[in-house]
Amino acid sequence: MKPINVGLLGIGTVGGGTFTVLTRNEAEITRRAGRPIRISKVADKNLALAKEVTAGRAEVTDDAFAVVDDPAIDIVVELIGGYGIAKELVLRAIANGKHVVTANKALLAVHGNEIFAAAQARGVIVAFEAAVAGGIPIIKALREGLSANRIEWIAGIINGTTNFILSEMRDKGLSFATVLAEAQRLGYAEADPTFDVEGVDAAHKLTIMSAIAFGIPMHFEQAHVEGISRLAAEDIRYAEQLGYRIKLLGITRRTPEGVELRVHPTLIPEKRLIANVEGAMNAVLVKGDAVGPTLYYGKGAGAEPTASAVIADLVDVTRMHTADPEHRVPHLAFQPQSLVDLPI
Ligand code: HSE
Repeated sequence: MKPINVGLLGIGTVGGGTFTVLTRNEAEITRRAGRPIRISKVADKNLALAKEVTAGRAEVTDDAFAVVDDPAIDIVVELIGGYGIAKELVLRAIANGKHVVTANKALLAVHGNEIFAAAQARGVIVAFEAAVAGGIPIIKALREGLSANRIEWIAGIINGTTNFILSEMRDKGLSFATVLAEAQRLGYAEADPTFDVEGVDAAHKLTIMSAIAFGIPMHFEQAHVEGISRLAAEDIRYAEQLGYRIKLLGITRRTPEGVELRVHPTLIPEKRLIANVEGAMNAVLVKGDAVGPTLYYGKGAGAEPTASAVIADLVDVTRMHTADPEHRVPHLAFQPQSLVDLPI
């Protein structure tokens, strides 16, 4: 069957992982998508790296616009990150009638309302499972698995870097700077690690989950954001002596006044499951009125866990793209026109 053609923007940690997993699990992925998914064109500033990773299996270029403007490309995967050129490229891909898969939480939390409105107007899909909690399929859980529920609250460890730092400081007595450097080496940290350490990355992800769970537009600017940079080794030790662990939590919930969004270090009794989430792992608790509390746990960062989410979106979008457009199920990720805007 005719393959679906993917254009990949950025072949760093996650882009490389996407190539590896798509190749390794080709048979399973093709069966689930209903047709082969082929990365046919890759753009990266580092042409040598792009050539090395693709090893002749895809065309490479250092001009990302050559990918989003290519009529042969059906889906654009944006793995550049940040609000700058990534926004321009995503909007151009949408305008060109291409579906978009992105791991860019910063872009969606800050410009998501504009991007989803553009996609809806053009009739294309913007999918973003990889933007929140890496390999945990939390977006699909909120949008599909829990679609019968009125979500009451979400609370989660959604930044692997800070959880890794807190775990290593507690277990090994290592300094903040040493562990942060290790998180960067392992590919967990953002290009600007202050986004991790100051809670901004967690707030981006929380904003996206909150929008889906409560059917509200993105309201990143309304979130209370506090990171871990002011925590000292003694805070972690004293908390332990009192039977608590300190975790950076993102919390969003309905209140009579509207939806609350907050990220801050939280004391959690050590017997709780979520208190025992260690290293770069993520965990998200979701309380629905019908299902009760549910817990999702897994790797929140890194090459293959994040690639797992990118490819899940590629499979999803391929199925929808292939379906008869007359009967195509609308993507329920975010539909601004049908939202109830709750005051925050
Ligand atoms: N910097 C992020 C984290 C990467 O540490 O969780 C995954 O979004």
